[in-house]
Amino acid sequence: MEIKKTWYKEMAVYQIWPRSFCDGNGDGIGDLEGVLAKLDYLKDLGIDAIWFSPLYPSPNADYGYDIADYKDISKDYGTLELFKKVVEEAHCRGIRIIMDLVINHTSDEHEWFVKSHDKDSPYHDYYFWRKGKNGKKPNNWKSVFEGDAWEYDPQLDEYYLHVFAKKQVDLNMDNPAVREEVKSIMRFWLDLGVDGFREDVITYISKREGLPNGAPLPVGTGLEHYTNGPHVHEYLSEFRHDVLDHYDCFTVGEAPMMTPKLARTFIAESDDQVLNLMFHFQHQEADCLMTDWIHTPFNLRKMKKAFSTWQKEMYGDAWNALYLENHDHPRAIDRFGSRKYHKQSGKMLATMYILQCGTPFIYQGQEIGMTNFPFSSMDQFKDVVTFNNAKVFAKIGITGDRFIKLAGKCSRENARTPVQWDDSANAGFTTGTPWFPVNENYHEINVAAEQADPDSILNYYKKLLRFRKENEIAIYGDYTEYYPESSKLYVYARSYEGKRLLVVCSFSEKPVRFTAPEGFDLTNAELVMSNYDVPYRSNVFITKPYETRVYLLG
Ligand code: GLC
Ligand code: CA
Repeated sequence: MEIKKTWYKEMAVYQIWPRSFCDGNGDGIGDLEGVLAKLDYLKDLGIDAIWFSPLYPSPNADYGYDIADYKDISKDYGTLELFKKVVEEAHCRGIRIIMDLVINHTSDEHEWFVKSHDKDSPYHDYYFWRKGKNGKKPNNWKSVFEGDAWEYDPQLDEYYLHVFAKKQVDLNMDNPAVREEVKSIMRFWLDLGVDGFREDVITYISKREGLPNGAPLPVGTGLEHYTNGPHVHEYLSEFRHDVLDHYDCFTVGEAPMMTPKLARTFIAESDDQVLNLMFHFQHQEADCLMTDWIHTPFNLRKMKKAFSTWQKEMYGDAWNALYLENHDHPRAIDRFGSRKYHKQSGKMLATMYILQCGTPFIYQGQEIGMTNFPFSSMDQFKDVVTFNNAKVFAKIGITGDRFIKLAGKCSRENARTPVQWDDSANAGFTTGTPWFPVNENYHEINVAAEQADPDSILNYYKKLLRFRKENEIAIYGDYTEYYPESSKLYVYARSYEGKRLLVVCSFSEKPVRFTAPEGFDLTNAELVMSNYDVPYRSNVFITKPYETRVYLLG
């Protein structure tokens, strides 16, 4: 099958969660001056695009995912002028800019919502304002973030819908005026020069007519009535044809509970395609059930199965978004690797996902192997999801230190600590007081130290990204998995235009015997990447802890 070649398939994307990236003015909060100061670092890393988590004005009930103004930049981060400079400076370096588009909901402090309290205003129908039913809420839906999905307004005697936090009010996408607003937001940023959007929980934007009751669930009752809802394809298609098609841009949609088959209805390359890529969650469930908070032992087979299914199902006419970390999950080394073999497992994990077929996304700090935060008291938590889980787990008796320990493993706050730049005070993140404490391990794990160490995780990422860029097989090659039943090794091959690439990853600190799959003669292959010095090439070897090897065969 002939694969269509395009820039968004060839790039590697770096995600910035701005609050914790780099502080330029000493107020303890990351900002765009900080980003400007690090553009050369990102260029040197070898990434081709930056995805910014929300930079817009926001009361920060969900750190930017509650937007109060879609066409401006938060004062915390700078100004629109400064943002334009970031776009320009990034473009000069060949780095594209992707904005986070959060249109399932707005902040309750958005002007539209404020105006919507007037029943006669056109904004009333921008949201789901509903009367109660028989003295009860309009339906039984539960928010995925906090309590019931409905909030009562006594003045209006109506409830509004919020699938996420109370301060994140769901937009009524069935209203054509709302869709026009979305298009206007898209054009605003595209006209400013941005290159695409990461679309937040985009598969939630169409709610089933009549908002019927949902089957009871511990959280998120009602999910089945808005996940991949009745008009989602139609609305996304409208955005594509009316706006996106008129620009050289791309989209990646976030899609909880997505399956490969359904994903193809959104991203397969055809006239009906509505998104370019999709973030699914299936491999994220290798150590949990449904949510990171229901933790289970890491199961490599589960992870491999998820990756391999998506690789197979998308190959040819659809394209994968590859990621291990983002701002919503604990750090990958702590989940799938090892603190003891920090360097080795950090490199192995990078190899494992970046050499699959798709566009790789790297989350800030991942490239130096940042780890979870050693939480020790309740007052360190800042995330609405953690607060909510504190309540949920208290009901089953998990409180105090037990809860803190759980959150230390499961909370997404682990990904939100300041980036560790160097060994100076506050890891060089700020000259002021950081808004979130810096992980004390910054003395060992930081950018400056890793830049100086040729054997560091950081330098490995650089080499890996360069390899991917210089070898089309790593981008466009097809994918075959070997030994799927192994619970310790992840082995796959890529093949393209007569060449083959074999990727071997051990997820164990124990020695594992590896035998080259049939048809691969490794004694004649070129070893292109490894996290150990491999003295000789052979078809059978015993792995070192978290070893990875990548062979190129002519
Ligand atoms: C997405 C974001 C997450 C946010 C949620 C609600 O899942 O990645 O950070 O809390 O949507 O906007
Ligand atoms: Ca700042």
